[in-house]
Amino acid sequence: MTTHDAPSVFGAVRLGYIVIETNRFADWRRFGTDAIGMHHDALSRDLMRFRLDDRECRFLIRRGPAEDVVATGWHIDDHAAFERIEARIRAHGAPFTVGTDEEAALRGVGRLLRFPGPKGITQEISTTPAKSAEPLRMLATGFVTGDGGMGHIALTSTKPMQTRGYFNTVFDARLTDYIDETFGGVKFKIRFLRVNERHHSIAIAAARGLPVDAVRTRVQHLNVQAATLDDVAQSYQRVHELGFDMALSVGQHTNDKELSYYARTPSGFEWEVGWNPVVVDETTWEPTTYQGISIWGHLPVGRTIIGKLAEFQAGARSLGRPESTVPSLSGAGVPDD
Ligand SMILES: [Fe+2]
Repeated sequence: MTTHDAPSVFGAVRLGYIVIETNRFADWRRFGTDAIGMHHDALSRDLMRFRLDDRECRFLIRRGPAEDVVATGWHIDDHAAFERIEARIRAHGAPFTVGTDEEAALRGVGRLLRFPGPKGITQEISTTPAKSAEPLRMLATGFVTGDGGMGHIALTSTKPMQTRGYFNTVFDARLTDYIDETFGGVKFKIRFLRVNERHHSIAIAAARGLPVDAVRTRVQHLNVQAATLDDVAQSYQRVHELGFDMALSVGQHTNDKELSYYARTPSGFEWEVGWNPVVVDETTWEPTTYQGISIWGHLPVGRTIIGKLAEFQAGARSLGRPESTVPSLSGAGVPDD
């Protein structure tokens, strides 16, 4: 195990916002507003935000060529925990930058620190997220955020122990459970990490014994938690009617029991809308391994041979391109339990 700079910050960290870079602004606006059903705020020609709740910013969309998630933002409960994480970054000699007032304002936060993360996704910590005075205008009845944060991110990684080591070092992440699954004939192990009561805020999928990454984007999917089952059903219908691609039909996961579907975003990575995942009770939780990601459903929708070929190409390309890691913050990596 990696050493921790005590005391732990577990429970004081929540996924707070996500920064996405895209040139497909009109499509993203339609996807976020008319399909998923979030509140939209245009800031300028090159910046827009989506809200899920009373916070000013849950998704910051900025114009640029990445077509990917470029940063994940973690809300930290208090200044003491913020400074503990900052001290860890310094102690490990990792580079960091203090966010400008303008950067903090765009994200709707007070204090902001940015530092490198796995797969080139910048990690940001912040305090004192701002509440909006504007009432929500959105098609969804609501999203579950609160103590567990806004949802989760899922990455594919060829270096899962280092990726797990990173979140362990920086946020005292705990292993919730594993899933073994076969995708396209390749065996994967998925590691689910939590930083608070949410079953997982980070999932890391790795091909077993194969240093191959078939996903072009830095994130495989993002997840938001819908308030009601009706919200899942109605947004599924809207995604379909508006002509956005569906990746996986409605189904239920084996480990957190979340009922969900996966749509494809205009940038290409997937977007999971889920409902009713289990909440972890720290006094009794024991990590286990599940076989397969789903109890039922989650069937691939409209997968074409072209899509399969694109995955194969991405996998082949990844062989010649080492994955970006942050060795200074990953320790020796965390071996599996
Ligand atoms: Fe997920």
